[in-house]
Amino acid sequence: MTYSKLFNFKTVGFRAVGAASILALAACAGETESKKVEPVEITVSEINQPVDSADAFTYANYQDVRTTHLDLNLDVNFDRKVLDGTITLDFERINDDADMLILDTQDLTIESVETLDSGNWIAVSYGLSSEDPNLGQALTIPLSETAEKVRISYETSPDAKGLQWLSPSQTAGKVHPYMFSQGQPIYARTMAPVQDTPAVRITYSAKLTTPPELVALMSASQDPNTPRDGEYEFDMPQPIPVYLLAFAVGDIDFKAINDHIGVYAEEYILDAAAEEFSETPEMEVANVELYGPYRWGRYDLIVLPPSFPYGGMENPRLSFLTPTLVAGDKSLTNVVAHELAHSWSGNLVTNATWRDSWLNEGFTSYVENRIMEALYGEDRAIMEQALDMQNLKRSLTEAPSPAYTHLKLPEDLENLDYAFSLVSYLKGANFLFFLEDRFGRERFDPFLAGYFDSYAFKSVTTEDFLTYLDENLRNRFPDVVSDAEIDAWVYGPGLPDTVRKPVSNAFTKVDNYRADWANGNISASDIPTQEWTTHEWLHFLNNMPEKITMEQMTALDETFNFTGTSNAETAFAWYMLAIKNDYKPAMPELRKFLVSVGRGKFIYRLYGALKDNGKKAWAEKVYETARPGYNPIAQDRIDAILGK
Ligand code: BES
Ligand code: ZN
Repeated sequence: MTYSKLFNFKTVGFRAVGAASILALAACAGETESKKVEPVEITVSEINQPVDSADAFTYANYQDVRTTHLDLNLDVNFDRKVLDGTITLDFERINDDADMLILDTQDLTIESVETLDSGNWIAVSYGLSSEDPNLGQALTIPLSETAEKVRISYETSPDAKGLQWLSPSQTAGKVHPYMFSQGQPIYARTMAPVQDTPAVRITYSAKLTTPPELVALMSASQDPNTPRDGEYEFDMPQPIPVYLLAFAVGDIDFKAINDHIGVYAEEYILDAAAEEFSETPEMEVANVELYGPYRWGRYDLIVLPPSFPYGGMENPRLSFLTPTLVAGDKSLTNVVAHELAHSWSGNLVTNATWRDSWLNEGFTSYVENRIMEALYGEDRAIMEQALDMQNLKRSLTEAPSPAYTHLKLPEDLENLDYAFSLVSYLKGANFLFFLEDRFGRERFDPFLAGYFDSYAFKSVTTEDFLTYLDENLRNRFPDVVSDAEIDAWVYGPGLPDTVRKPVSNAFTKVDNYRADWANGNISASDIPTQEWTTHEWLHFLNNMPEKITMEQMTALDETFNFTGTSNAETAFAWYMLAIKNDYKPAMPELRKFLVSVGRGKFIYRLYGALKDNGKKAWAEKVYETARPGYNPIAQDRIDAILGK
């Protein structure tokens, strides 16, 4: 049993804090009228709606009591690699009889818990459940009838899964340390005690104290001209799920792209990143035209250190990006389109549980492709669909059981990694392509815009979406799509035969040249590659015959200089081929790649391929050097791959 709750709250006792400390706390209760906290006004009923389908990955009793606002006051301590301070939580009682607030925590040291009761802060005795390796510990806080707020003093652990602390030598500038967070899916609980479920939305405010020479950023309002002084304040007035709570602290500079879009990065890559992502404003316009207003104020990007384990993360107002997107030719900016698209699908309308993650990632992958089409034309959009389709087909064969290829993931989903397989992303996107093809864009586009508007700032389930689809599209145009077709997509395995089949003429040409070359009819230098885009190169490499001779590998490398290429996607595709074909000349550069890039999409499969192709010992040696630089999330995954 991995991700399932280990106990039932009603029947199993909590490991309460020691009796002595309860007495001590009780003794000073009433005297602890400490810091004054300004009340924050929020209209709760607008934020949350009851969600009947429970989230299995939280201990929170969010059906009874729901947190509505968080106020953080934290010291970012690089010496001890901890966040240290207080969180104050506002809450709303859904069930009037509720006498307890239950929060998620993981690897936190709780120093005290107080409630604001009739104007006084009173220390209360709290409970901590035994620790589950994946879910952490439930923190139970008794609430009197008059309790209004909860305040918790705590600190994080240096090993917090959601925080990475880099030493100066692990940064590009080499002078200052760096810290960044990753909350999705359930790591916010390693940063603060919270109701860590996407079913609950909170607004937040925060005060961070950092060394004065560093800049702190959050997924919240920020003025790019804030002076560097080590005291930073943030406000997030729109309600978000806590997995979108995010921090980045370091020697970070800013460059504007327009009046409300810009890039944060370490200096070494700032200009290149601003150039690479210079079309973000056009992406925003395309998104707004299709799906309605951008509701978050500023939209900034931050290029993180190379150990950032994702291509991008859609933290609101401030998408986090890997530096491997900065290819010099804007060929990988679909990731920006993707993270921006989450400002509608995911951040505005959020999956209520991780079993519904296709509502976030599938919708976003669909919108991403529409944006790429709007900016760069149909050819590029179709190439991206075709590359995606191949990856999806591979991913479908890797599912542990057919139920993991349903869009609505199984009730007994144990490992959250499966909520983020390409099934959620690309089967999800393809379900929407199917609906678009059937209903036509003239009906489907306004329908989606209406969905984002109707559920703005709400958390929804797959069933909510299907009901909305019935009421707003299927009932009006009843013979377009059958129940059986919908069922096959959402609750059935694999890819229904109603799937769109993308055909790229450019890729067909690549296929023909590849075949001619593989058969020995032409040599590598005869292939007219001058005009090829990264997409064509990827299609060329991803569809090589199973086995290629050493002479052929050498000819490819000598003609096209794949080994050591600066485009991370092309490099990855080439190194996968090199590993399978035991092409040794690529190994020193592959080693460099693995030590310098921590993006999971690349390194998980590279380590896996090394292991599967008799190179486990070599992989382990590289990993020994690389591991300290990887993000904790990536360390866990590769530990598992290499059986550590
Ligand atoms: N939300 C995801 C990143 C994520 C996935 C975080 C799983 C935690 C768990 C983000 O929006 C994303 O999907 N990023 C992709 C890029 C995209 C173009 C497919 C990535 O990181 O590669
Ligand atoms: Zn995404």
